[in-house]
Amino acid sequence: MFLFITTVLTAWHLTAGQGNPVVNINNGAVVGETVRFTESTYISVDKDINVFRGIPFAEPPVGSLRWQNPVPKSNWVGTWNATYYRPICPQALPSKTGNEEDCLYLNLYAPAQVPVEGAAVMVFIYGGAFNVGWAHQSTYIGTALAATGDVIVVAANYRLGVLGFLSTGDSASPGNYGMYDQVATLQWVQDNIAAFGGDPARVTIFGQSAGGCSVGLHVLSPVSQNLFQYAIMESGTALTPFAYNGDQNLAVSESHRLGDDLNCTYSTNEELMACLRTHSAAEVLATALKFTFLSAPVVDGVFLPDHPETLMYTENFKHTNIIAGTNKDEGLIFGLAEFPAAISGVRAPTMDRASYEESFPKYLRGNVNELFKDGVRNQYIDWSLADETDADYLEAFNRQVTDETFVAPTDAFLRYYTSSSKGGTTAYSYHMTHAPSVSAWQINLIGPRWMEATHCEELQFVFGWPFLDEVQNWKSKNLNSNEKTLSVQIMKNWTNFAKTGDPNSADVPDWSTFTVPELEYKEIAVGLPTQRALRADDNYFWNSLAPALKACA
Ligand SMILES: *[C@@H]1O[C@H](CO)[C@@H](O)[C@H](O)[C@H]1NC(C)=O
Ligand SMILES: *[C@@H]1O[C@H](CO)[C@@H](O)[C@H](O)[C@H]1NC(C)=O
Ligand SMILES: *[C@@H]1O[C@H](CO)[C@@H](O)[C@H](O)[C@H]1NC(C)=O
Repeated sequence: MFLFITTVLTAWHLTAGQGNPVVNINNGAVVGETVRFTESTYISVDKDINVFRGIPFAEPPVGSLRWQNPVPKSNWVGTWNATYYRPICPQALPSKTGNEEDCLYLNLYAPAQVPVEGAAVMVFIYGGAFNVGWAHQSTYIGTALAATGDVIVVAANYRLGVLGFLSTGDSASPGNYGMYDQVATLQWVQDNIAAFGGDPARVTIFGQSAGGCSVGLHVLSPVSQNLFQYAIMESGTALTPFAYNGDQNLAVSESHRLGDDLNCTYSTNEELMACLRTHSAAEVLATALKFTFLSAPVVDGVFLPDHPETLMYTENFKHTNIIAGTNKDEGLIFGLAEFPAAISGVRAPTMDRASYEESFPKYLRGNVNELFKDGVRNQYIDWSLADETDADYLEAFNRQVTDETFVAPTDAFLRYYTSSSKGGTTAYSYHMTHAPSVSAWQINLIGPRWMEATHCEELQFVFGWPFLDEVQNWKSKNLNSNEKTLSVQIMKNWTNFAKTGDPNSADVPDWSTFTVPELEYKEIAVGLPTQRALRADDNYFWNSLAPALKACA
């Protein structure tokens, strides 16, 4: 048994230092590192992948460039050392070292041998509520995906929090800097990817959570539409409640609050911004974190010409092929604050009626009146058990938060998108129900183990975590063999979509498109069954009835 395990564990590995590829891009030469990716049991690959870490795609956004759209990087003399990761953008993680404002770097994973017609490209946009995250998190290493699908994977940092999204609502600081960093990444790919063997006409953007929201916003933005071909939205679309800040007054008052707390004296927003620029990034960030700074994209009239609902409704979006999906238990991680004692628990906590009554309204958005609250109770409480004193309301709470924040907005996005009168839109949808045997949230076996198919769990399948040393080094426990097979299937579906706009391959078509009225989607579970009409009555509740209830009283 031990020998068997050892064999399985050594069936894949990355060996570093087999070469240092040099590529000439528009700014000058870059040198990376070739790694060997070998996996003989599940993927059957043995390939060289050229990894480039820390290529600058814009000038450092410091000094007068802070709170400005990214400026193209000027050329360099000699060879840029792209063998190590550069700093992450300043963010709200207290102990994270290596945060610097000079953070606009990207990482690239390219098969050494690419098809003659050029490799399809997948640009990943990380999540983290527009406040945290970075491109070289071990969870987003692109080597396995590149080796499995013969695609080039690119992941770039973008500015976060107050440094990425501060908006005065006027030209002093229009906001959306983080989004323009993503746009600059896509422009960089258009300008440079051919040098790595990539095909600039086949670029898929994919992202998760706030990254999925970002992808959705690029689908809507006239600025981004010509810079990519296909889009994948994992647990976030342009209609997800946290995708953007629709309250411009709030954004403006927060920028003023920041200035006030930093003792700025100003009578115009230009004076405010001049004062804010005299403070260090660390000071600005720490001050903003003392109050709830709502860092999110705003309607700036350029990147986002109007509210996402309006752009969807008026069909102002890129007509192309998309994948959009959600996970069954996203709400549990979002509601974790309700169960502080269960943070590293093995078993799910129970939620009695009293704690349910206290918790569930906190997660409702908009005008939370009694009628709306009772509508939610009616929709989610299992009334056949509600008279039992020990009835557990955790699932009611989980489903509410999952549906309100993820499932219903994704359903609305898919319906608008696929019902376009202009045609030319093809959508595939998925819903992950499989609870991984090792949670994405477990690090060295610490972390909650009761969250089933919660937020982020699909990432380990999409990026092939079971096949990456970088992940296994800190996970210390791997997925089982069925799950490894599932991961390879998903990597193939994702990369096939990047190549052709269809997750299926010609010989095995199985994932049908999402259309109204069929409403078909792929269930991400072992065997990948096809299902239809995901939570249709809950979607009706959130997208049709809830707005009417909120409008009462
Ligand atoms: C690139 O940087 C790494 C890490 O600092 C260093 O070990 C290596 O020698 C550098 N390579 C070149 C060509 O300068
Ligand atoms: C702002 O002024 C107050 C009152 O003088 C002072 O306590 C505080 O330290 C100042 N804050 C900054 C960031 O300078
Ligand atoms: C995509 O997944 C389906 C199952 O949903 C599978 O049958 C198919 O082979 C996969 N496509 C590719 C290209 O691997």
